[in-house]
Amino acid sequence: MDKLYLGTNTKMYKTIADTVDFLTRLAANTADLSRDALELFVIPSFTTLGEARQCVPRESITLGAQNMGWEDQGQFTGEISPLMLREVGVEIVEIGHSERRHVLHETDEEENRKVLCALRHGLRPLLCIGETAQQKAQGIADEILRIQLKIGLQGMDPAQADRLMIAYEPVWAIGVSGVPASADYAQEKHAVIKRTLAELLGEDAQVPVLYGGSVNDGNCEELIALPAVDGLFIGRSAWDADRFDGIIRKVLRRLGTDAGKREE
Ligand code: 13P
Repeated sequence: MDKLYLGTNTKMYKTIADTVDFLTRLAANTADLSRDALELFVIPSFTTLGEARQCVPRESITLGAQNMGWEDQGQFTGEISPLMLREVGVEIVEIGHSERRHVLHETDEEENRKVLCALRHGLRPLLCIGETAQQKAQGIADEILRIQLKIGLQGMDPAQADRLMIAYEPVWAIGVSGVPASADYAQEKHAVIKRTLAELLGEDAQVPVLYGGSVNDGNCEELIALPAVDGLFIGRSAWDADRFDGIIRKVLRRLGTDAGKREE
């Protein structure tokens, strides 16, 4: 993968003012880092997206939405359409985060509709997949990941693979009571995901696979060094711009890219 992807989903935490402050600080903190081989993205709440896009340039920070309805318009009270997201300058759409699957009971079939709809509208779907603690204990994690990918990407044109991103976020690793996956476990599951993507979209498909779930300053270097990990998708540890900047710099140093220091 010729690019490194580092991003955060701010969940239901930041108001417009909080988001603008966060983005402005993050853009300023990371202004010296070349974006040639690094994409930084932030996925804040819907209500913040307009102001969020105005306050930092897209070359500095890509913006995503946390969800999307799968129709262009219609009688779908409470849903946000791809046209509305395009209008405010969103590029990425997060689809199937574990909280949407397990708290709001979304299905693989629904995630699939959203993936296809995002691609149809020139958005970049970030499909999140991951097994629950119970599925892990039952020894069916690989099967679950393959099902989530096979249904989630059903009907997708492999020619659009360069716009797809996958986040592997084991449900048991996410949030305050989450335990981060060990490096060996993460590498093994990322390898399963990569093999499945090659099967579904062709050996040449260049789909970044990001790890998420209790990533922090202490484990980011070990995780990013894994050969099958192309980026990190971070929650709590990235919500402070200085702390996120610290993680970004640790990761770049670990990869030895110093991707680094922009030529002045
Ligand atoms: P945490 O890093 O807080 O576990 O959250 C991960 C996540 O859900 C990113 O989408």
